[in-house]
Amino acid sequence: MTEQQQQQRLQQQQNHHEHQQQQNHHQHPQQQNHHEHQQQQNHHEHQQQQNHHEHQQQQNHHEHPQQQNHHEHQQQPQLLVLVGSPRRDGNSASLADAVRRGAAEGGAQVKLRFLDDYIAGFLRDCRTCRLPNGECGIEDRFRTLFLEDFLPAQGVVFCSPVYWYGLSAQTKAWFDRTFCYYAASYPDSEQVIRGMTGKRIGLALASEETYPGASLGIVHQVQEYARYTHSEFVGFVRGVGNRRGEVARDPGFPAADAERLGREFFARRYTDYRLDTPRSGSAWPQGD
Ligand SMILES: Cc1cc2nc3c(=O)[nH]c(=O)nc-3n(C[C@H](O)[C@H](O)[C@H](O)COP(=O)(O)O)c2cc1C
Repeated sequence: MTEQQQQQRLQQQQNHHEHQQQQNHHQHPQQQNHHEHQQQQNHHEHQQQQNHHEHQQQQNHHEHPQQQNHHEHQQQPQLLVLVGSPRRDGNSASLADAVRRGAAEGGAQVKLRFLDDYIAGFLRDCRTCRLPNGECGIEDRFRTLFLEDFLPAQGVVFCSPVYWYGLSAQTKAWFDRTFCYYAASYPDSEQVIRGMTGKRIGLALASEETYPGASLGIVHQVQEYARYTHSEFVGFVRGVGNRRGEVARDPGFPAADAERLGREFFARRYTDYRLDTPRSGSAWPQGD
C-alpha cells in the first residue's frame, strides 16, 4: 500500500467514525423520546386501569340514581339515538329510526332525540356565562338531554348528515357543550366524567356523495371521542341520499345495516387489541 493509499484509507475510516458518532447522537434523543413515550404510555395505562377500577368500584357501591339505573336496566340496556339534522323527515332521521327499531327488537330501551329540540346555541366562554351556582348559563334544554338521557344510557348512536365533510353543527355543538359539565368548574364534574365513560358508541351518517372519503373525517372524530372517553365504537353506517328520505333508495340498503346495528348494539363483539393483549389466534369463538 502506498503512502497515499494509506492516507485515503485513514480518511475513510475517520469519516465512517464521524458518521457513526452522528448516527449515535441522533439515536440518543430518539431513544429518550421512546423512553419518555413508554413512561407516558405506562402512566396512561395505569390511569386507565385506575379509572376503570374506580369506575367499577363506584358502580358497585354508589347509590347515585344514574348508577342505580344502570343496575335496574342491566337486563334492558338503555340506548340514546341522537339526530343532528334539522330535517325531521330527512335521511339521518330515517337511519335513526331504523336503529331505534332494531334496538327495540334487540331488547334495548330506546330514546330518540332531535338535537334541535335541545340545543339552541354553541359553547360559550364558561368564565362569562357560568352561573354563580356552577350551572351552565346557556338557556336551552341541553342540560336535560345530557344529564337525564345521555349520562344514564349505556349506548349512544349519533346520526348526522355530512355537512362540509364534517358533522352537522348541531351534532358538533352537542360534543362541544358536554364541556360545560365535565369541566372542573361544574360542581358535579367528577360524576359527569364517570357517566361519560364506558359507553358503546355508534354512528350513522347521511351524505349526498358516495365515495367513502366524504365521511372518513367524521368516523375518525367519533373514534377519537370513543377513545378519549374509554368507550367502544361498535359500528358505523353510511347511507347515501340527498332528498328527504332518499336514503331508502340507496342500493346498499343502509336502513337494513342501521337496523342491524341497533339490534346487535349491546351484543356485538368488540375487539381493540394492543401488542400485548392476550388472545387466541381466532377472531371469533370457535364452534365444536
Ligand atoms: C350545508 C350542507 C352541506 C353539505 N355538505 C355535504 C358534503 O360535504 N358531502 C356530501 O356528501 N353531502 C353534503 N351535503 C348533503 C347532505 O349530506 C345530504 O343531503 C344528506 O342526505 C342530508 O341529510 P338529512 O336528510 O338528514 O338532513 C350537504 C348538505 C348541506 C345542507
